[in-house]
Amino acid sequence: MSSNHHQSVMFEKSIEGLNIKNDGIYIDATFGRGGHALGILNKLGEQGQLIAFDQDISAIEYANQHINDTRLTLIHSAFADMHQVLSEQGLLGKIDGILMDLGVSSPQLDNAQRGFSFNADGPLDMRMNQTRGISAAQWLAQADKVEIANVIYAFGEERKSRHIANAIKKFQVDTPLETTLQLANIVSSVVRSQKKKHPATRTFQAIRIFINQELKQLSETLEQTLDVLAPEARLCVISFHSIEDRIVKQFVRKYSKQKQLPKGLPIIDDGIQQTLLRDLGKSFASSEEISANRRSRSAILRIAQRTTKPNV
Ligand SMILES: C[S@@+](CC[C@H](N)C(=O)[O-])C[C@H]1O[C@@H](n2cnc3c(N)ncnc32)[C@H](O)[C@@H]1O
Repeated sequence: MSSNHHQSVMFEKSIEGLNIKNDGIYIDATFGRGGHALGILNKLGEQGQLIAFDQDISAIEYANQHINDTRLTLIHSAFADMHQVLSEQGLLGKIDGILMDLGVSSPQLDNAQRGFSFNADGPLDMRMNQTRGISAAQWLAQADKVEIANVIYAFGEERKSRHIANAIKKFQVDTPLETTLQLANIVSSVVRSQKKKHPATRTFQAIRIFINQELKQLSETLEQTLDVLAPEARLCVISFHSIEDRIVKQFVRKYSKQKQLPKGLPIIDDGIQQTLLRDLGKSFASSEEISANRRSRSAILRIAQRTTKPNV
């Protein structure tokens, strides 16, 4: 399998969820290797447009080399820049659908040099955008053990977070911690493997989320979509772990709940004046897809629709 291969997750359901209009304008917030993007382009007519974001330059380079379509605009940027980019193009409120397929792509995981994988040795980098910020190795060198433990606990839900942080700091007394296998071995020395899961799975996930500020990016971008989406437009988000999904779920709930007006009781002012979204529910990958693509086993697709008017 080529190192550029990425099997798109929940492809049909997410493309269907976007309810693509022939001449609509769509956003693929996470281009990756363009599987979903091609699915969107296939449904669009000549007047349709697709704006695709990816903060990883290798995704943009791949698109430039492999896709020649004037309806596609590529943006090498974090999706949290969406509001600004669309505002500059006069496109706020004009987008007919947004797809977010979160996390890392297979090419990122499979390239040991990117530092995402505990299965192959490489520099402990983990940045999706290698032109910005600090690598995981730099952060682990400068952070104290409380900070490290907090990150591993908060973003990996790892109960052994303190033991791991202690082991990291102990290791660093004699040796710089610079590679993925060093980190994987440190974690394996304090965490027992469970079922088929590598003991370092949660720790790697946590550090990756922290280094890329993934949850902050997600929360900020979801809020931005309210300004970005046109009336009746769709938002489809595929997440891969419970922390991410919780953020999406709570966002949709917050803006889709109907205001109750209990007689004689004061209305609780939560700052939300209108129902801005309609919750169209969640779905999972089929058992066929899960057996063909292990990555899809934890995928949750949530779909919401921007309302036309308040409280509809
Ligand atoms: C799961 S892959 C997407 C795969 C894609 N849907 C496909 O079918 O090929 C996620 C991609 O989103 C990018 N990404 C993740 N977080 C991002 C963010 N905050 N801003 C921009 N791109 C992001 C990653 O670099 C990665 O290429």
